Order: sequence, then C-alpha cells, then structure tokens
Amino acid sequence: MKDLTPKQSELDPIEIASRDEIAALQLKRMKWSLRHAYDNVPFYKKSFDDAGVHPDDLKSLTDLAKFPFTMKQDLRDNYPFGMFAVPREKILRLHASSGTTGQPTVVGYTAKDIDTWASVVARSLRASGTRAGDVVHVAYGYGLFTGGLGAHYGAEKLGCTVVPISGGMTQRQVQLIEDFGASTIMVTPSYMLSILDEYKRQGRDPRESCLDVGIFGAEPWTNAMRLEIEQAFDMNAVDIYGLSEVMGPGVANECVETKDGLHIWEDHFYPEIINPETGAVVEDGEMGELVFTTLTKEGFPIIRYRTRDLTRLLPGTARSMRRMEKITGRTDDMIILRGVNVFPTQIEEQLMAVPELAPHFQIVLERKGRMDAMRVLVEPSQTGVDGDAAVALLQRKIKSNVGVTAQVELSGIGGVERSQGKAVRIIDNRPKG
Ligand code: DLL
Repeated sequence: MKDLTPKQSELDPIEIASRDEIAALQLKRMKWSLRHAYDNVPFYKKSFDDAGVHPDDLKSLTDLAKFPFTMKQDLRDNYPFGMFAVPREKILRLHASSGTTGQPTVVGYTAKDIDTWASVVARSLRASGTRAGDVVHVAYGYGLFTGGLGAHYGAEKLGCTVVPISGGMTQRQVQLIEDFGASTIMVTPSYMLSILDEYKRQGRDPRESCLDVGIFGAEPWTNAMRLEIEQAFDMNAVDIYGLSEVMGPGVANECVETKDGLHIWEDHFYPEIINPETGAVVEDGEMGELVFTTLTKEGFPIIRYRTRDLTRLLPGTARSMRRMEKITGRTDDMIILRGVNVFPTQIEEQLMAVPELAPHFQIVLERKGRMDAMRVLVEPSQTGVDGDAAVALLQRKIKSNVGVTAQVELSGIGGVERSQGKAVRIIDNRPKG
C-alpha cells in the first residue's frame, strides 16, 4: 500500500493548532451558535426558556451541559422547516432522511453551510490520502440522502475529478472505476463488498485495481472488516462519519497514517458523550451516546443533538482534534437477548474470523415461546468449503466471545441479501408491543 500521509503544510492550520486555540475558537463559536438558535428558532427559545437557561449563561465549554438536548422527535414535530434559523429563501439545499419509521426529518443549508460542508469533506478526503487531481468515484447514493452530494462537493473543493455514479449497477461500477482510473472510492463498506464480488465475477484481480483509498461510512463497520477490504484490494480503508442532522458525511474522519479512530472536525462540530440513561456528560475515554452541537451552521443550527450512536472520545493523535472510536452501534440497533446486549458489529467481528464464510450477513430476530431467538444468515466464501464446520465454528465463537446463543444458517453463495447503500443488518420478526 502507498504511503499517502499528507504533509503538515497541506493541512488547515486549525487541524494541528494547540488545544487552547481550538477551545478558544469553540467557545466563541458556541456562544454565537446558541444565540443564533435561540433568537431565530422558536423551538430553541422555548426549550431553553423551559429549562431556565439563556445563551448568556454559557461562560465556558462545559456550561453546554446546562442546555437541553434536541431529539429526533423534535425535528419531526417541526416538520418540514420549523427548525430553520433563516428565512426559507436563504436555504439553497434541502436533504431529508428516508422516513421509513415515521415523518421524514428535513435539513437545510445556506450558501455558507454548503461551503463549510464542502471544506470539511475536502479535509476528510485529504486526511484519507486523497489529493487534488485524483479521480474520486462516488458510489454513495445521490438524492435526499446526504452521502452522494456531500462527498461530491467535498471532492470538487479539493480539486479532484469526480465520478458521480451513485449506488447500484454494480457491473458498471467496476468497469468505470477501472476505465476512469479512480484512485479513491467513497461508498458504504457493505456495498464495497458487492463491488468486490463483482471484480471476481468479471475475472479481474481486485489487488491489481487502480484504487488506493476507500472512504467508507454511513453504517457501522469493524476493524476486522477494514483488514478484509484492505487485503482484498491492496488499498487503504478509512472511516468517515456524519449524519444529516449535523451536516452529512465529513463530521469526523480517520487519518490514513494512523487509522486509529475518527478525528472530529471540532472547529465546526462540538462533541459530548453522555450516559444514555441519565443524560449526564461522561469523561473522555468513557463509552456512551454521542451528542453534537454545531458551531458554525446558519440554516439549521443544532444544539446537543442526541445521535444515538455509541462510542467514546479519545485524545488527538495525527491531528490535535479529538478522536471518536469506531462506532459500536446505535442504541436502536442494540439487541437484548436473554439479558445480554448485542450489536451487529460484534457478530461481524466473529464472522470475519472464519475465512470459509463470506463477509455478508444478516441477523433475524424471532420469538420462540416467551424467549427471543437470533438467527445469523451467512454464506460460504467460495464453493467447496466445509460449510458445516464453518457454521459450527461461528456458532461457538459467538457463544464464547459475544455471550449469546445464535443459530447460524448457511445459504448458497449470493443467498444473503446485498445492499446498494446502507446494509440492513437486523430483520426483526418479533411480534410488536
Ligand atoms: O449516513 C451521512 C454519511 C454519508 C456518513 C456517507 C458517511 C458517509 P444519515 O443517513 O443521516 O447520514 O445517517 C446517519 O448513520 O447517526 C450513524 O448511525 C450512521 N453512520 C454514519 N457514518 C457512520 C460510520 C449519513 N462511519 C447515521 N460508522 C449515523 C458507523 C455511521 N455509523
């Protein structure tokens, strides 16, 4: 793999500024952001007033803990434009969540917000090892989802040649990666696995591909999956995180030289970790729910947004900005099986340790009598492997390392449903209520 470490002179000065400088900038911007939200969004005025706090009460960064949280439901309640802090005419772009579980949530960006977003994605690309002049293949979905357009504007801002292919048509993805000479691909890790299968199907050696960097996110994935993809393609695989409510992709990104968690672009997004049960802020290093406050967003400022993503904050390494550990999972995706908490990433980790099985999987939850049961659907990595032994091995690994009993079921090759974007890891067939 190529050494793609950027030179210090290529970085934004704030990426390597002292912690004091970063904190001073954050405090100044946080005061502005709280005031901006309070003065322009009736929801924030009410929620701050109800909690008995005022933007002037913020004297230090830790004072943020006095302010109320914002939840997904608050965004739904203010559908479609109630959370905007500028007149609708100043909004240049809308994005929205798919809304499969209710009212969609709508977010809006001013011209300055679009520019900020492009800058943090450009920074993320540079951290990943991408440079001006590179061909960037964007296979995140284009549309209301922030993945495609967010990646696109950032890659253009960095000065790359962008291929806006979006998701799907896997055969053509492979052809165009190779014909156009993409050195960077931006895609969900689960769809990258489908692209890998397609390389093999076309009789191409993925290790000979022109790709040097994969920037994978929009769903949880493990370090074990990183190794699998890096070895298969002889490329660097780095993690990109973001969410539409806070901005889109590019809230945090790994550095290619360390791959040790994601540096949060703290000059624009202020992170906290809370205990999801009590709401109390926990120390850096402790696991909990990630909460974000935007520091510079005009159109859709968001204060203490509960992401439901579980991780912990770590000190900076390759950059001065703090890191977040790879996301373990979402609180909504936590399976409680006979008293044991299980995340799909834990199953992924065990699966990756069984080379006879392909990296594709789905978890099916069912109720048997009064007990919940979990099935894990997998498939062989190639024809001719001893499927029974592999299934038994995975079952044992899940039992001893995760602590739950799962029934592993082997289908034929291609039998596990593929994603073209975010993978559906859990099928919950338990009766509702
Ligand atoms: O998924 C934005 C994005 C697009 C990020 C492309 C990275 C790449 P939403 O659709 O709003 O936005 O979903 C946000 O996806 O709260 C996490 O649960 C999950 N997620 C995003 N990135 C990661 C990641 C985009 N790197 C939700 N690791 C978030 C784990 C991630 N989960």
